[in-house]
Amino acid sequence: MANTPQNTMDAYWMPFTANRQFKKTPRIMKAAKGMYYTSDDDRQILDGTAGLWCCNAGHSRSEITQAVSHQIEQLDYAPSFQMSHPLPFELANRLVALAPEGINKVFYTNSGSESVDTALKIAVAYHRIRGEASRTRFVGREKGYHGVGFGGISVGGLVNNRKMFGPLLPGADHLPHTLNIDLNAFSRGLPEHGVELAQALESIVGLHDASTIAAVIVEPLQGSAGVILPAKGYLQALRDICDKYGILLIFDEVITGFGRIGNCFAAEEFGVTPDIITTAKGLTNGAVPMGAVFVSDKIHDTFMAGPEEMIEFFHGYTYSGHPVACAAALASLDIYKKDNLFEKAHSLGQYFEDGAHRLAELEHVQDVRNYGLVAAIDLKSRDGAPGARAFEVFTECYKRGVLIRVTGDIIALSPPLIIEHSHIDELFGTLAEVIQATA
Ligand SMILES: Cc1ncc(COP(=O)(O)O)c(C=O)c1O
Repeated sequence: MANTPQNTMDAYWMPFTANRQFKKTPRIMKAAKGMYYTSDDDRQILDGTAGLWCCNAGHSRSEITQAVSHQIEQLDYAPSFQMSHPLPFELANRLVALAPEGINKVFYTNSGSESVDTALKIAVAYHRIRGEASRTRFVGREKGYHGVGFGGISVGGLVNNRKMFGPLLPGADHLPHTLNIDLNAFSRGLPEHGVELAQALESIVGLHDASTIAAVIVEPLQGSAGVILPAKGYLQALRDICDKYGILLIFDEVITGFGRIGNCFAAEEFGVTPDIITTAKGLTNGAVPMGAVFVSDKIHDTFMAGPEEMIEFFHGYTYSGHPVACAAALASLDIYKKDNLFEKAHSLGQYFEDGAHRLAELEHVQDVRNYGLVAAIDLKSRDGAPGARAFEVFTECYKRGVLIRVTGDIIALSPPLIIEHSHIDELFGTLAEVIQATA
């Protein structure tokens, strides 16, 4: 590897990485602009994943660079408890204008994981303030990914993220996941089969009683587990059951927020309004860490009931509403609006979908799933070596100048929303060649 000698790599314990394998054959980016990274050996790498589902407006946007550097000079930091500065207020107003009706409050965090843990705490505290302190249980979903805090892995449903970490939060149940390749393989958009899976929530309520359940949390479209879509009508069915029993519904839109599948939020795209929406990633175009939890007026106003001099919610972060993060978010929102990026998943969706489904005929491909500017190519696993085939495709694509993401044997694609037809051709063209060449 050109510029990063192996002996300088030892100290960094990398996240979600096979550290020893990586350090033998590293993949290092040294620059990025628009749709492309530059690798340390000076190759252009097409970004098929918007970084980690976050650089929705493409890389190194000068508007964000300028806003961030101006802000750091103007005001690097202001305390966030009992003090503030103008930008988080301005940003919150801009954000709630994008949110579904009735969701008009924003609480800031620094990441998706923090957004999820914040949302779970809001849900439990909300019920307690209303006199229903017994509502402490959460319902997540199998294969769900809600970050890596103890709350997030408790409601999450990816076994490797859970099994090493002890008993987790007490009282977390899981709905069945909605992946059904037998019935829904090669669906375009939302699949037909599986609305009845929402009824599992009735069973969980029957088992524990509604009076013990605070909230249901789901990703409207499961990203990290390999792009798993809800069947038509499924999210509305969850909403209806939550309403029937006074259970809050949380949509984790850390991936789907900010234009990934059309509209700003999946809630709007799918026409189902939750009580809380968790976000991060695209909020600042991935340029500065930041998350935001969107909360309904009903929940927020419940907290505002005690004496005015009392802190209403004993929760927050040193960097909640950080000036530099707010500047990055405001500049990102300007770009999203100026470039109409929340419409791209609609205007480019069909071309992207056709590109993805052209891979359906290749050997080893057992499913292709897509919605907006997200797609998964699901490969059959090699006997006794789950994940090996897709990892080989990933490394070979990287050699040929295309960045994809793999989870097990599923290839997930989520390019920046500035993608054009030529990039889509390059992405699926390279993938087709590599899948074909992979045994
Ligand atoms: C749905 C969802 N929630 C939460 C997270 C965690 O976000 P972070 O890595 O910023 O903590 C992710 C990250 O991919 C995510 O996809």
